[in-house]
Amino acid sequence: MKARSMGGQFTVIEGRAERAEAIRTRLLKAEAEISEREMRHSNALLEETVRQRTCELELANARLQESLKQLQAAQAQLLFADRLATIGQLAAGLGHEINNPLAFIIGNLDYVQQQLVRTAGAATPEEQQEMIEAIADARDGAERVSLIVRDLKVLSHPNDLENGPVDVVASLRSAVKVAAYELRDRATLVEELVSVPPVNGHKVRLCQVFLNLLVNAAHAISPGQAARNEIRISTRMSSSGSVVVEVSDTGCGILPENLERIFNPFFTTKPVGVGTGLGLSVCHGIITALGGEISVRSEMSRGTTFTVTLPVYEAQEEITSRAA
Ligand SMILES: Nc1ncnc2c1ncn2[C@@H]1O[C@H](COP(=O)(O)OP(=O)(O)OP(=O)(O)O)[C@@H](O)[C@H]1O
Ligand SMILES: [Mg+2]
Repeated sequence: MKARSMGGQFTVIEGRAERAEAIRTRLLKAEAEISEREMRHSNALLEETVRQRTCELELANARLQESLKQLQAAQAQLLFADRLATIGQLAAGLGHEINNPLAFIIGNLDYVQQQLVRTAGAATPEEQQEMIEAIADARDGAERVSLIVRDLKVLSHPNDLENGPVDVVASLRSAVKVAAYELRDRATLVEELVSVPPVNGHKVRLCQVFLNLLVNAAHAISPGQAARNEIRISTRMSSSGSVVVEVSDTGCGILPENLERIFNPFFTTKPVGVGTGLGLSVCHGIITALGGEISVRSEMSRGTTFTVTLPVYEAQEEITSRAA
């Protein structure tokens, strides 16, 4: 009887336990369903956010591409404007440069003409000799003008920009001739030009770089003390086999806080109308595009040295055969 009643109790307890278990299972299932729904919901949210972000990124990318195009167009314009500014700045100097030999030529020709008229073709041997010398001087003057014109031509082929082997010594000499008027009254030019292998580049562009450096060096020195100042140009090979060109001056030097800014476009310490501040940024652009480097060291009141390092020219066949 006891056992039965106990058995009955067990049955009641077992029934409750089963119901509790069933409730727990239902609860767990409901919880699992809720979590799954939440997960699906957050997945959908996440996917939507990713989709939106991707759209935004694509838009930003398109805008960046557009800006890049505009920047490239602006840079091309700046390069062109800088060439014009440099040439414009030098035009006055070149006027003088050409005027001197021209005055010389005209003077000598006038003299010969007057002598011929005066002696009516019957000049003494001395007079004849003087006329021959005057004509020879006039010829030298004309030769000088023709050299200047030849150097100017170096700067006037903007579209001929394919790279090839360039002789930096010849390029430096052309730049010196074009800048001669700027240099003359300010410094003695010292040349330490040893012959070096050709570099890979474009002669107009390299001449533009050296011209910018020479004009900057001249501007760092006040006019009138040419004998006490020096602008030195040199070429050599670096220990790693690159060609090194240096342009140094004994000018005012560059303030340490400006050293990092001088290659920035439009950084200038010159008055408005004198400098655009594009010279060195253009030099930097040209040299780095050729795989080279341009650096500066300077000491206030002592001078400045710009160092340009350029890789030696390698013919395309050599590069291809090495790669094979
Ligand atoms: N050799 C130098 N000695 C002293 N300062 C220099 C020298 N070269 C450059 N600088 C400084 O760097 C600045 C920037 O030179 P950069 O050639 O870029 O422009 P700029 O000469 O001022 O104008 P431009 O565009 O006409 O060349 C100059 O204004 C000058 O302050
Ligand atoms: Mg300059």
